[in-house]
Amino acid sequence: MNALPALAPPGMTFAEAPSFREIPLYDGDGHAATGFPRAATALADTIRAADGVIFCTPEFNFSLPGGLKNALDWVSRIPDQPFAGKPVAMQTASPGPLGGARVQYDLRKMLVYLDALTLNKPEIFVGSCANKFDEKTGALTDQTTRDFVRQQLAAFATFIAQHGAKR
Ligand SMILES: Cc1cc2nc3c(=O)[nH]c(=O)nc-3n(C[C@H](O)[C@H](O)[C@H](O)COP(=O)(O)O)c2cc1C
Repeated sequence: MNALPALAPPGMTFAEAPSFREIPLYDGDGHAATGFPRAATALADTIRAADGVIFCTPEFNFSLPGGLKNALDWVSRIPDQPFAGKPVAMQTASPGPLGGARVQYDLRKMLVYLDALTLNKPEIFVGSCANKFDEKTGALTDQTTRDFVRQQLAAFATFIAQHGAKR
């Protein structure tokens, strides 16, 4: 995620989504009693304001980390939910060899329900990530990965220009 600005095409800027640490576990009774938590509406507002959304996530137990799933569950209940018609790309990193391949396909499945416009290719799976980042600074040092990310961001800019902002 931190590597993206330096690899982006001209004109593409980034804003980190607000933290979803404060979003409580979704349950219908709590939702009915207290409405949407402020942290969930803040996340939805940020998504709504963006031309596109890029997920950068690890994989937990072959799927989405629970906090991310919970945040998406809340956002999905918000009226005029913000992923509908929104261009989305995704990137995953893992110390394992597959680089989070499985979580991406679970996330893509959720995004079908949310009616997002998900970029198909290039896909970014950063496998064996311990060898691809500088241990001290966290900088992305692997040139092949940097080239793939650059290609994906360029493709995402084109995708947004072609399909975004229709709502
Ligand atoms: C509960 C848990 C489940 C995990 N499951 C997977 C997995 O299914 N596939 C995988 O590649 N890595 C898995 N990992 C390793 C994560 O990819 C690794 O912890 C992650 O890169 C670190 O991200 P973090 O610093 O945000 O936790 C798992 C880690 C945890 C804590």
